[in-house]
Amino acid sequence: MIMWDDAKITAFQETLLTWYDSEKRNLPWRRDHEPYHIWVSEIMLQQTQVNTVIPYYERFMEWFPSVENFANAPEERILKAWEGLGYYSRVRNMQKAAKQVVQDYAGQWPQTAKELQNLVGIGPYTAGAIASIAFNEVVPAVDGNAFRVFSRLFEIEDDIAKPQTRLIFEKVIQQVISKERPGDFNQAVMDLGSSYMSAKNPDSEHSPVKSFNQAYLDGKELDFPVKSKKPRPVEMPYIALIIETEKGYLFEKRSSKGMLANLLAFPLIKFEELEDKPGDVLLTDDLVIKLGQWSQDNLNHKLIFSALEGSVVKHTFTHQKWLIELFTVKSKSFDLSYFPGEFILEKDFDQIAVPKVQQKIWDKYISLSSNKF
Ligand code: ADE
Repeated sequence: MIMWDDAKITAFQETLLTWYDSEKRNLPWRRDHEPYHIWVSEIMLQQTQVNTVIPYYERFMEWFPSVENFANAPEERILKAWEGLGYYSRVRNMQKAAKQVVQDYAGQWPQTAKELQNLVGIGPYTAGAIASIAFNEVVPAVDGNAFRVFSRLFEIEDDIAKPQTRLIFEKVIQQVISKERPGDFNQAVMDLGSSYMSAKNPDSEHSPVKSFNQAYLDGKELDFPVKSKKPRPVEMPYIALIIETEKGYLFEKRSSKGMLANLLAFPLIKFEELEDKPGDVLLTDDLVIKLGQWSQDNLNHKLIFSALEGSVVKHTFTHQKWLIELFTVKSKSFDLSYFPGEFILEKDFDQIAVPKVQQKIWDKYISLSSNKF
């Protein structure tokens, strides 16, 4: 890797910031430099596209206009605000961090990247983004965009899947970042990384920093960044039980550990835990225990569900891909005393926060049920 001289660094900063000043995306979290606003946007933008985030961000600020407000909000409300964004642990951690700001820092955000990392859920990237954008600290914010942009500019060949590679990028960026406008510099890199220097369809020919882009000049920009492959997510077959009663549909309150912790969803059972696998599913004794006691129509502890044909719902988490087949039954009643859950009427579904996978199951169920008529 060849490092630039001072003249080239200055030319790069000027080119990048001039472009940013005229072309920057008009995003709601760019209206001011409030650390609370920057923080919420940065957490939402982890693993979610800008266009998807915008309406969530606007509503979030209506519901929780200040960090105090958010710190004190009821859990159902913060989960509802997050519904559809996935990875609910993010919003739960956010509330923990908000309580830290309010209680440990008397409502005043720490102002350096180093100190910001004492808050729950804030790692080096988010800390760098908040410190540079809200407090003008001269620190890099290395996300996927920065990896892509700087690996191409400097032909950095280190594997970005390795945790220690971040330090190499931070050192390079520390040398070229604008000392006057570090926050704008970092955001300009984000905009560049999602436009002219995107992963699959870069348009380097028209990019404002074309002449600085060594990988492009050498005709090999698509070789950067270098990233070793992650193992594929493990496929896990599940069945979902859609149990309709006069009081509503049965939702399970998931345990506080594991995937989708504490959320409400139709009961989901790992296929490998079933005894009678093919065809229509019989509830085995184990599952009866899991589901509690059936009253009235539970013949021999067994209740017959019917499989909804063609109903496989697929949902991928970071390390797991769930393949879920839907099974339905109508039941007069169901004894909840053994089962951690509740009945919810369809008209009340929008009152609760449900995981994305639950929404997919419901959408599939509705589409298959309406096809029948
Ligand atoms: N992606 C992550 N943070 C961002 C920001 N502040 N602006 C635009 N895209 C982003």
